[in-house]
Amino acid sequence: MILKEKIAAQLPEWRERVRKLVSENGDMVVDQVTVKQIYGGMRSAKVLVTDISYVDPNEGIRFRGYTIPELLKLLPKAEGSKFPLAGSLYYLLLVGEIPSFVEAMEVENAWKARGVIPPFVFETLRAMPEDTHPMTMFSQAIVSLQHESVFARRYQQGMQREDYWEAALADALNLTAKLPAIAAYIYNIKYGDGGFVSPDPDLDWAANFAHMIGFDSPEYMELSRLYFFLHSDHESGNVSAHTTHLVGSSLADVYYACAAGINGLAGPLHGLANQESLRWVLNLREEFGRNPGTEELEKFAWDTLNSGQVIPGYGHAVLRLPDPRYTAQLEFGREYMPNDEIFKLIEELYDVVPKVLQELGKVKNPWPNVDAISGTLQYHYGMREFDFYTVLFGVSRILGVTANLVWARALGQPLERPKSLTTKMLEDIVVKAK
Ligand SMILES: CC(C)(COP(=O)(O)OP(=O)(O)OC[C@H]1O[C@@H](n2cnc3c(N)ncnc32)[C@H](O)[C@@H]1OP(=O)(O)O)[C@@H](O)C(=O)NCCC(=O)NCCS
Repeated sequence: MILKEKIAAQLPEWRERVRKLVSENGDMVVDQVTVKQIYGGMRSAKVLVTDISYVDPNEGIRFRGYTIPELLKLLPKAEGSKFPLAGSLYYLLLVGEIPSFVEAMEVENAWKARGVIPPFVFETLRAMPEDTHPMTMFSQAIVSLQHESVFARRYQQGMQREDYWEAALADALNLTAKLPAIAAYIYNIKYGDGGFVSPDPDLDWAANFAHMIGFDSPEYMELSRLYFFLHSDHESGNVSAHTTHLVGSSLADVYYACAAGINGLAGPLHGLANQESLRWVLNLREEFGRNPGTEELEKFAWDTLNSGQVIPGYGHAVLRLPDPRYTAQLEFGREYMPNDEIFKLIEELYDVVPKVLQELGKVKNPWPNVDAISGTLQYHYGMREFDFYTVLFGVSRILGVTANLVWARALGQPLERPKSLTTKMLEDIVVKAK
């Protein structure tokens, strides 16, 4: 398997680089932690490392050093498509190089070979109450697959530490291969006729998801490719990535770690914001009609804030500019749905909401994030089940977090265990310092 060979070839150099850095400079101070950070969600504390992606506050995400516009150009695509194959992105995340078309197709084909879902996963999903949230079902499906974990089995057999990453890679490929079919099955039993649609062997991973939920239009397949590309990774500190890393650091396998990350993604301040954001825009239309003016948009934004709520889809813990993942989707909308009324509203809100948030005075980043638009594009094509939007996010996010898990095991990253203090201890530290 090409991914295994490519990673294995890089490992001696990476391991030596990390060993040298830590052994020669282990006591060097990188950052200091303030009382505000300890009480404030560790915002900006530099305590994690990943080489897979980096979020520059003023530029946005880079995957393996490349920006989104660069990758939209450089990564190999399916025939007739403008958007990268998910297999090409996964290769890039894992290997750190832009793959050739043939290399990208190796990943796509490895997924095809591993995509069959064991029947007990379907049975587990069908056994859940009808009104179960699709994120609960998604998480449950992933954790049920833990039964198949290569890592867990080999660990029991006494696997050597240097081999952990290979078993993690096997789990990562086995899990990611199944995600489109799992997500599609959840969609079909919750909102469709409950049937399982077999993947089309001629379609790529992302387009197959569209096919399996019955959204067979070439445009929706393009949106799936873009969507799964954009949401995959956002460095290591966000809740889904950090949770996955933390749980994986206990040597819980890829399935346990990813299910935990997906549970984190289900929170309204993280992945759930995409459904909240569209709901907010639809409420706006309900209150002010189909073509609200600027003053009405402003009023709605202020009413939201004055009622103590956040404006979903705006703001970010790290970014200080319009999220390039938002911009890429905006460009998609301009090309494929310029006259869609809700899309037009999204464009108008861009001129209104940041000003309102700036006037509020405390918001560090008034610009739209990825969630301000993603639901609108799905809605346009007829995916109107808001609860499902975060599952789409999850399918994509697992590409990023599993690539990180493989490298965390490859570089021997240990159990994560920061230290907590009591409030009294912090008060004493402050008194002593003064
Ligand atoms: C993403 C988010 C959680 C980041 O939080 P953060 O790092 O604490 O952001 P800030 O440092 O700018 O927050 C400072 C203040 O501005 C507020 N703020 C930030 N974004 C806001 C928004 N979109 N609407 C209203 N208030 C907002 C915060 O709630 C905080 O208020 P507080 O001091 O009274 O608690 C926050 O911007 C948010 O809630 N946005 C809306 C939800 C969303 O879109 N989430 C998806 C993120 S990809």
